[in-house]
Order: sequence, then structure tokens, then C-alpha cells
Amino acid sequence: MHILVLNGPNLNMLGIREPEHYGTQTLADLVKMIETEAAALDVTVECFQSNHEGVLVDKIQEAYGKADGILINPAAYTHTSVALLDAVKAVQLPTVEVHISDPDTRDDFRKISYIRQACIATVKGKGFAGYLEGLNILVHHIRRN
Ligand code: DQA
Repeated sequence: MHILVLNGPNLNMLGIREPEHYGTQTLADLVKMIETEAAALDVTVECFQSNHEGVLVDKIQEAYGKADGILINPAAYTHTSVALLDAVKAVQLPTVEVHISDPDTRDDFRKISYIRQACIATVKGKGFAGYLEGLNILVHHIRRN
């Protein structure tokens, strides 16, 4: 089983960026945690980060026929991007939405998630551990179906 893990804009700044929301660990630390969990689950992962909406759309489209599922933190594009929603709908791959913080308890403009309606689950407010929970939800969902 192969899972595509996508991180959106500014998540390359983890460790520097707003530590009160996102902690002090880096994106490299996060990738290491995800790869360790993937090995324990006996699945392969590709972890990819981009600050660009179209690049993320391309990556989702490229997953068609290659990946079995997508774990995505769309970051700010969660709240703005119909294009990411449409891309996930187009490839019809089981997708889990993850957020380090809980956007629903922050600014009003963070309460909308366009992608959520195309996702089998959302994990939020659990820090980096949320990615591991999301990966488990996704892998077990794919194994059941
Ligand atoms: C985020 C929450 C978003 O509102 C924000 O724009 C991010 C990160 C999170 O992981 O908590 O960039 O997706």
C-alpha cells in the first residue's frame, strides 16, 4: 500500500512558525515520525510539501493510479481552495484531512474547510500525533475496503 502525504503552505516553516500553535519541531522531524509509523504499518509513504496551490493539485492528480490514499494538511488552502477539493474528488482516492492546531477554535475564517466534504475523516488539534492517527485511520479504511 502506498500513501501520499501532502503538506501545504508555510508548513516548511514548522519549528520557527507560531510555536504556540504548531510547536517547536520541524517538518523534517514530522516526516521522520510519519515514515516510522508507515514502516510499522507496513505501507510506503511519499511526503511532499509545497507553498503553491497548483503544485499540490498536480501532486494529487499524479497520485491517480499510483497511490492508495492521501493524507493532507492543506494549511491555509483548507480555507480557500475549491481546486484542492475538486482534485481530491477527481482522483476518488480515500483522503484524510489533518491539522496540527484546531482551526475550528481559532479565527472565524479558519472555520471553513472546503476539502472536508471529500475526506473520510478529519484529525485536528492533536499536534504532530494527528498525522499518525490520520495515517492509521486511512490505512485501516483502505484495508477494510
Ligand atoms: C493548519 C491550520 C490552518 O488554519 C493554517 O492556515 C495552517 C496550519 C494546522 O495544521 O493547524 O497553515 O492547517
